[in-house]
Amino acid sequence: MKRILGCAMVVLFLGAAPLLAKSVEGNEYDKGKTLYKNNCQFCHGIRGDGKGPAAEPLLGHPVDFTNSKFWQDDVEKKIEDTIKKGKEMMPAFDLSPDEIKAIISYMSHTFKKAAQNNN
Ligand code: HEC
Repeated sequence: MKRILGCAMVVLFLGAAPLLAKSVEGNEYDKGKTLYKNNCQFCHGIRGDGKGPAAEPLLGHPVDFTNSKFWQDDVEKKIEDTIKKGKEMMPAFDLSPDEIKAIISYMSHTFKKAAQNNN
């Protein structure tokens, strides 16, 4: 029994090693991009303009992240709160603080730039 447990631990450790290496590398932007793509994009759109394929049938309108009005001082807290609690037609997401940080990093590096160019 002990040996089986030992083997299981080794297998688990080997399985987790690449994940650990990746987070140590800290490629937050890429992580955020993937998370955004998997969780947010079908409503908020690939360009963050709120025109994702699921936006049309929704009663509410996903917020346009490429509008400079969105990027106010408290925006990081707003994004975090919205992810955790959801809002109107938007469901809450069970994401870790690191994942939320990565999404905010991705959004700031792409949509915020677009917003600045739009105005
Ligand atoms: C099912 C569609 C849907 C998905 C998926 C979704 N959203 Fe939203 N989101 C909305 C809608 C609709 C609103 C507008 C809510 C309202 O009526 O105020 C919104 C609003 C927001 C707002 C603005 C909140 C405010 O107070 O102005 C933020 C920030 C946001 N979403 C971030 C995200 C992030 C990050 C993800 C992915 C983790 C995500 N959303 C996934 C539909 C969605």
